[in-house]
Amino acid sequence: MKIQIAQVQHLNDICEVLKVLDTEKRTFSDKKQNLFFISKQWCYVAMESGKAEGVIVLEPTEGSYNIYTLVSKKKGVGKLLVNLAIDICRKNSIPKLWCWSLARYEAGGFYKKMGFSESFLLQKQWDSEDCYFFGKLINMDSKVSYNNIEEY
Ligand SMILES: CC(C)(COP(=O)(O)OP(=O)(O)OC[C@H]1O[C@@H](n2cnc3c(N)ncnc32)[C@H](O)[C@@H]1OP(=O)(O)O)[C@@H](O)C(=O)NCCC(=O)NCCS
Repeated sequence: MKIQIAQVQHLNDICEVLKVLDTEKRTFSDKKQNLFFISKQWCYVAMESGKAEGVIVLEPTEGSYNIYTLVSKKKGVGKLLVNLAIDICRKNSIPKLWCWSLARYEAGGFYKKMGFSESFLLQKQWDSEDCYFFGKLINMDSKVSYNNIEEY
């Protein structure tokens, strides 16, 4: 499994992977938006045998990082991508990682496993849908575990 900063040539694969997040009101797989994320170097793709097995978009916000999208198509890849996000927080001395997650995704168990101890359900928060906020403080004492993301 190789995780790399996404390039324009990954765009179609990334949009295909992200389709699972699309709702009636919001298209996370939108090409223009994902091209923007790629151009900002906020998008990382997990590749195996030339196939995209997972995607994370990590948006820097004021003093924190927002996991804007996360999809894993293969068990274990979700954990790899969140660990990458944690490493990026540490590397940049950013103490907080968080995300919105629509309740319909039922991803709470995953975020809890990944150490997101803050979990709040906000009713009709996003596009009139119930949505969780998941947040995690980053322990800055731990060592950054990568220098080159392609080591994953
Ligand atoms: C949620 C998602 C990213 C998890 O990715 P994954 O690769 O299946 O997760 P991993 O295999 O790395 O799981 C890490 C740990 O969390 C656990 N886990 C994963 N999904 C879980 C869930 N829905 N509920 C409870 N535990 C879960 C795994 O069992 C594993 O535990 P372990 O370390 O004790 O073995 C993936 O299922 C997915 O893409 N879902 C659809 C899109 C989605 O919901 N994205 C998040 C929206 S913000």
